[in-house]
Amino acid sequence: MSTNLTLSVIGCGYLGATHAACMSSLGFNVIGVDTDPEKVEMLSRGELPFYEPGLDTLLAQEIKTGRLNFTTDFSAVAGADVHFVCVGTPQSKDGLAADLTYVKSAVAEIAPFLKEGALVVGKSTVPVGTAQALLELLVKIAPQADLAWNPEFLREGFAVEDTLTPNRLVVGVANDRAEQILKDVYQPIIDLGTPWIRADLPTAELVKVAANSFLATKISFINAMAEVCEAAGGDVTILAKAIGYDPRIGNRFLQAGIGFGGGCLPKDIRAFMARAEELGAKQALEFLREIDAINLRARQRVIDVVRNDLSEDLTQYKIAVLGATFKPDSDDVRDSPALDIAVQLHAAGAHVVIHDPKGIEPARKRFPNLTFGHDVLECIKGSDLILHLTEWKEYRELDPKIIGDLVKSKIIIDGRNALDRELWRNAGWKFHALGRTD
Ligand code: UGA
Repeated sequence: MSTNLTLSVIGCGYLGATHAACMSSLGFNVIGVDTDPEKVEMLSRGELPFYEPGLDTLLAQEIKTGRLNFTTDFSAVAGADVHFVCVGTPQSKDGLAADLTYVKSAVAEIAPFLKEGALVVGKSTVPVGTAQALLELLVKIAPQADLAWNPEFLREGFAVEDTLTPNRLVVGVANDRAEQILKDVYQPIIDLGTPWIRADLPTAELVKVAANSFLATKISFINAMAEVCEAAGGDVTILAKAIGYDPRIGNRFLQAGIGFGGGCLPKDIRAFMARAEELGAKQALEFLREIDAINLRARQRVIDVVRNDLSEDLTQYKIAVLGATFKPDSDDVRDSPALDIAVQLHAAGAHVVIHDPKGIEPARKRFPNLTFGHDVLECIKGSDLILHLTEWKEYRELDPKIIGDLVKSKIIIDGRNALDRELWRNAGWKFHALGRTD
């Protein structure tokens, strides 16, 4: 193991905290830098500021080794050989494009401390061309350093697994030396047989947004099929299973429902469209506009089913919403379809009570006016309708017979096609699911 390299990680959010802890677990000395003192304090104590299965234990363990440290002081990166830039690239406030403020300032902040031969490695998701622009910036302000791009494909809920045993490593480099440094960092992962892909800088940046666009397309494709199934009297769950047996199609990411959310897929496809337009390739990505529209329509379709089941006027009804996060095993509520639906129903006058195993506090921070409950049965009690919007395991384990005695009327809408329809129907429930004819 090449543990003689020292690494820095700039930006200790989801991506950075995971990367820092995982690199430390490979034996490297790692210094994580973040501008948020509260986050840095927590991480330094070995406490994770967000929920991610397995990462809490790994972080605590690595802090104890002394190899992993966090600070708000950029000068602490001075001794490092490789600097991973892991800051966020959110959607800009005034359009579809990505906001590159944090990436640019991260590189500018570390520049004065870069030693001779240091390698700055971008991991953030950026519009194609950003790496080249940063390289040109470095030539001016820190010519002793080089730059590479190494996109990250980790999924929330599987962050540690995806970092330490990824299905591929992609590096965008301008020369052999940069590639070799990255090989030295990732040698233990390469030794597992992980495919290694060397690309130029723009291709490496594009691989990331292309992958997320493809995943978003798969989800919207199946949700479009769900719409057609509803119109034609079909069942999208059977359709997905049937097409998924063709290995060219594959059965993953064909779960129809209320669609994709989170901090990545929605903003990445929008930023990709915006960048393509700047490059004069707008037409090539026009289809992503439709992918986005299908995705947002799924949320509206659930609200239509609710109104159909209850009434146009929702003011007299209590609706129990199961799930606030954008997916299970995460406390992330960024662009969460579940929370968006809950907000819209609340705005329409319904009495909405939201449950989530991990996401209540982050959701409450965003929407303090909504009602949340920590006890799922309390939330469900007296409701006129249950909306199942995030497929946490504990919701699949609910006993429809028992909760049937708690509600006012036995109506449930499965927004994730994850519950056992027969089980609920046999217990006397009116059960709807997106893309499945009743
Ligand atoms: C996504 C990608 O999957 C990662 O590879 C990528 O690294 C990451 O974005 C990123 O760019 O950082 P993540 O946002 O954690 O990861 O979530 P996904 O597992 O991709 O799920 C995204 C959304 O799609 C969720 O809201 C999920 O509920 C929804 N989804 C997923 C469906 O509606 N149907 C499916 O079949 C699968």
